[in-house]
Parts: sequence; C-alpha cells; structure tokens
Amino acid sequence: MSKKYKYGFIGAGNMGSSMISGLLESGLAEKKDITFVTAHEDSAKNIEERFGIERSKDAASLSKESNVIILAVKPGQLSDILPDIRESLDAGSIVVSVAAGKSISEIDNALLSMEVAGKLKVARAMPNTPAAVGEAMSAVCFNDRFSDEEKKEVLSIFRSFGVAEEVDEGLMDTVTGLSGSSPAFIYMLIEAMADEAVRHGMKRDKAYTFAAQAVKGSAEMVLKTKKHPGELKDQVTSPGGTTIEGVRALEEKGFRKAIMEGIDAAIRRSLEMSQN
Ligand SMILES: NC(=O)c1ccc[n+]([C@@H]2O[C@H](COP(=O)([O-])OP(=O)(O)OC[C@H]3O[C@@H](n4cnc5c(N)ncnc54)[C@H](OP(=O)(O)O)[C@@H]3O)[C@@H](O)[C@H]2O)c1
Repeated sequence: MSKKYKYGFIGAGNMGSSMISGLLESGLAEKKDITFVTAHEDSAKNIEERFGIERSKDAASLSKESNVIILAVKPGQLSDILPDIRESLDAGSIVVSVAAGKSISEIDNALLSMEVAGKLKVARAMPNTPAAVGEAMSAVCFNDRFSDEEKKEVLSIFRSFGVAEEVDEGLMDTVTGLSGSSPAFIYMLIEAMADEAVRHGMKRDKAYTFAAQAVKGSAEMVLKTKKHPGELKDQVTSPGGTTIEGVRALEEKGFRKAIMEGIDAAIRRSLEMSQN
C-alpha cells in the first residue's frame, strides 16, 4: 500500500530520525522513498551516513518531490518553514506535523495558497520519546480532507515505531500529559525504586534493570491481558503479604493523587502553551 508514497522530512533531529528509522526498519519505506532537509550541513551529513538516504536541495524542493511532508522541526521553527513550502504543495500533498502545540488550523492557514485552497490534507501528531527505541505512543488527528486509506497511511508511519491511535484534536493536550510527558514521570519512578534497592544493598545497574523490567512487564500485562489494572494489582496482593503493605504505604503517601496531579499539571501547561 505504502510503496507509492514519497516521504519528505523537514527536520531530522531526535523525532525525525526516530521516524526515519521506523519507516526503514519496518519496511514501510525504502531508502529511495525518503528525503530530508535539516538546518545544518553537519547534521545533514550525519543523517545521510546513518540512513543512506538523500537530502533535498531545500524544503521547497522536498515538498515538490514528496507526497507526505513531515514537519519535524521545533514548534518555534515552523514559522520559518511554512512560507517556504507553501507554493510547492499541491492538492494531493499530505502534511504531517509533529510540532507540539501547533494546531491543524494554524498550519493549514499558514499553508493556504490558490493551489491548495480548501484541499490540503493536514495531520497533527504527538509521539513520545520512546520513539527512539521503536516503542512510541503516538496520537494522530486529521483535518476532514483525508480518505480512510490516507488516514491509515499516516497512522502506519507512526505504527512503524510504536503504537498509534487517532484522537480528536481536542484531546491533544490530554495526550501531551498522558503519554508525552509521562515518560519523565516513569523514569522518576524507576529511579526512586532503584534508589531504595541500592539503599538495601543492591548494585545500582542491577537495580535499574530490575526496576525498569518490572515497569515494562507490568505495562505489558495491562496491554496484553486487557485486564483492569485494579484486578492485576489485586492478583499480586496476597492476604497479609508484602505487596499489600507496600500498597498501604503508597496510599498513605498519596501515590495515586500525586500521579494524577502530575498528569494534570502537564495537561494544563500544554493547554496554556497552545493558547499562546
Ligand atoms: N523529541 C520528542 O520526543 C518529541 C515528542 C513529541 C513531539 N516532538 C516534536 O518534534 C519536533 C522536533 O523535535 P526534536 O526533539 O526532534 O527536535 P531536534 O532534535 O532539535 O530536531 C529539530 C530538527 O529540525 C531541523 N531544523 C531546524 N530548523 C530548520 C530549518 N529551517 N529547515 C530545516 N530543518 C530545520 C534541525 O536541523 P539541525 O540539526 O541541522 O539544526 C533538526 O534536524 C518538535 O516540534 C517537537 O515538539 C518531539
């Protein structure tokens, strides 16, 4: 299905290169199907060497040569890029932005030209940093000009390096808190778990492995068994045992409330930032 698409990356930093890697490793695209541009010569050389893909002369040429144009620059850099590519797009172009906090309508309006008026397909996505190891959680939303097949195509880009789901654009700030920011919270959890194990005598590198694998395995249990997390928790807590003691201690310290507050704070900050 995807072989007819040519992907053009404007920006190939952390996120862009994770996406390129996913496309190539999953076989969704071949090297010849992907071009890119970056701001600096040395980073462009690195990408060429790392992936064996060709760079385009500039963003405008890339947009002409590609039918899926991926905007993987920092949100503040978009305003420089969009005017450069506006006249190179046609009604068949699909523009996919991963810039946090930039709405579909902002991008659509900035790209408005005679050629694409009322036709341009713009998707917005929020992946997260585990994209770097092929384990991203990405949310994708679309304007109303996509066919089902085109939506599938865009989702398949994000599924090449993790899990991806379509969401309403109104939920993008929630996604930012839930899966965008939460890897940092999980790293804090892993670090705290390991710190305590170190305090009890375990070597630090081993403690990180134990803690991280416990988090990973528990997440897999939720995803694979589809059981309610509370039911899975109940299965671990035998009467009078060790785990229920830990659960009680965590409840006393407001563990769940702390997590909810952290997610809420991130969602609120995302809302604030997207309104500016
Ligand atoms: N990192 C994440 O986990 C994550 C998660 C969700 C969303 N995002 C979104 O992904 C986007 C990129 O983030 P990132 O972390 O990948 O940033 P990054 O590592 O700084 O990469 C930015 C890329 O944009 C290029 N660039 C900058 N100005 C350009 C220009 N005028 N023309 C062409 N290329 C240009 C840079 O080139 P040089 O390297 O040559 O400067 C670099 O390749 C952001 O909008 C961010 O909100 C990232």
